[in-house]
Amino acid sequence: MTLRINDVAPDFTAETTQGSLRFHEWIGDGWAVLFSHPKNFTPVCTTELGTMAGLESEFRKRNVKIIGISVDPVESHGKWKDDIRTATGYDVEYPLIGDRDLNVAKLYDMLPAAAGASSEGRTPADNATVRSVYVIGPDKKIKLILTYPMTTGRNFHEIIRAIDSIQLTAKHQVATPANWQQGDDVIITAAVSNEDAIARFGSFDTVLPYLRKTKQPTA
Ligand code: BEZ
Repeated sequence: MTLRINDVAPDFTAETTQGSLRFHEWIGDGWAVLFSHPKNFTPVCTTELGTMAGLESEFRKRNVKIIGISVDPVESHGKWKDDIRTATGYDVEYPLIGDRDLNVAKLYDMLPAAAGASSEGRTPADNATVRSVYVIGPDKKIKLILTYPMTTGRNFHEIIRAIDSIQLTAKHQVATPANWQQGDDVIITAAVSNEDAIARFGSFDTVLPYLRKTKQPTA
């Protein structure tokens, strides 16, 4: 069945560049980003994995662990890291899952629709994971799902921006408007009454009866 936001992220055991791990245990009490790429030693993927290596400290600051996955073997991931460093200047220090049996790819619906009508007709290309991203919270529930085609490299700053928004909501019962960036005003959710809003945020602007804005809470 298709995974949806608020579903519990499926647990699994997998081989990675840092040994075998059980996913939920590996996540621990924090947050996680599970992201797939189609194939090692390909151009867009090389830029993506290097970009994530460069951003790892930004994820860590937010108590988010990152983990990559493709159907390539773990040994291939290890060899590819040299190219990623050459191309991007970053060392991949986060784990990469070698999902040879497609177990995780199937659990997380990371495979494209088969080119042929029947699943027996799948080609090796059909069995390469697409560019999926799952953000998972400390409750092990899925908070965000994103899927990009093979030829479009992802903007991982957007994943960080979304995590900042999701973590703000979890802490302060606020939502974030379109194109929100850190420090911009936020939206008070409908669950908070006007009286509560004054108590929590001090003041707010009523733009519309259902659109109330306030300064981004800092604490
Ligand atoms: C790439 O990373 O460049 C790529 C990988 C698989 C299919 C197409 C492009």
